Amino acid sequence: MNIPVLTFFNNKGGVGKTSLVYHLAWMFAEIGLSVIAIDLDPQANLTASFFDEDTLLGIWPDKPSDTNAHTIYQCLRPLVRTGEILTPHTKEITPKLHVVPGDLALAGFEENLSEAWPNALGSNDLYRPFRLLTGFWQVAQMAAKAHRANIILADVGPSLGAINRSALIATDHVVIPLAADLFALQGLRNLGPTLTRWRSDWKKRRDNWSTKEFRLPGGKMHPAGYVLMQHAERLKRPVRAYSQWAERIPEEYQRVIGGDGGVDACLARLKHYRSLAPMAQEARKPIFKLTAADGAIGNHARAVTAAYDDFKRLAELLIDRLGLEVSDQRVDHQIIPASSA
Ligand SMILES: Nc1ncnc2c1ncn2[C@@H]1O[C@H](COP(=O)(O)OP(=O)(O)O)[C@@H](O)[C@H]1O
Ligand SMILES: [Mg+2]
Repeated sequence: MNIPVLTFFNNKGGVGKTSLVYHLAWMFAEIGLSVIAIDLDPQANLTASFFDEDTLLGIWPDKPSDTNAHTIYQCLRPLVRTGEILTPHTKEITPKLHVVPGDLALAGFEENLSEAWPNALGSNDLYRPFRLLTGFWQVAQMAAKAHRANIILADVGPSLGAINRSALIATDHVVIPLAADLFALQGLRNLGPTLTRWRSDWKKRRDNWSTKEFRLPGGKMHPAGYVLMQHAERLKRPVRAYSQWAERIPEEYQRVIGGDGGVDACLARLKHYRSLAPMAQEARKPIFKLTAADGAIGNHARAVTAAYDDFKRLAELLIDRLGLEVSDQRVDHQIIPASSA
């Protein structure tokens, strides 16, 4: 069984993608799901949110070894030569939350993916192009199986290039973080057609895969909705400027992205947490886990409680929309052999 992949995607930077993946990964784990967070952004910001410098030095050694591959790039590096995908040594954050770290060297993989894309439509040597193009998905599935994960959360960089195309063909559900401004509306107009094209281009390639030597992702990229981020700079402007843009988003989203009829595509309007955001980064924990010892006292403490409720509501809504099972029991039942009863 394939584990569902949920990707947070927008080709605009600074809209809160990484922060959202980080907080939701913690919250899903908090409410009982087993979670894999995978960092597919060559800038590796998600990885930097999870780990301190000493840990990062261990994850990114000068000479990575093939016997202890941590990052997504270290797992895929042998494919660039003549080797095979390596099993990821994930990093444990909690028993319910494991990370496949990102890697700045992933940027160099873009070219390999660009080359593999047309080759996957060819008539011979399909093994390697398909191995390359689905590498992110293969590694994510290996990590998920090792930890009996219920969900894989993927963070990606702000681009419409070959790396993100491979990330999206590995994606079952897409959430689009958006700011309420002109850029968001313009960006949606690029995003919608890009997703449509990637979906159909991937289907053509899948149809060309007759040997079936290994499994491929479905590449459904089903739009699960958007999250509206309320940024501080915008809050300083007249409220009307924010709401004017915010009001136009639902119609524009429906027009260019689409989604399930009858359900509200807006999953949440996330507050700007102001000074709690740097406080949480400093403490290397999610905003909703800050304590008095971290400096969250008085109004801050109340904001921490409110943030917990906000992320819990969003996580529960996603569990519902994606049809995820929270309890581990379903998985446990599967591994008990019928004869042991
Ligand atoms: N809800 C929020 N409240 C406060 N700061 C936020 C919030 N979301 C994101 N940020 C901050 O805004 C910056 C950009 O967010 P980030 O998640 O890195 O965006 P992206 O991944 O889309 O580039 C980061 O410094 C992050 O800490
Ligand atoms: Mg980011």
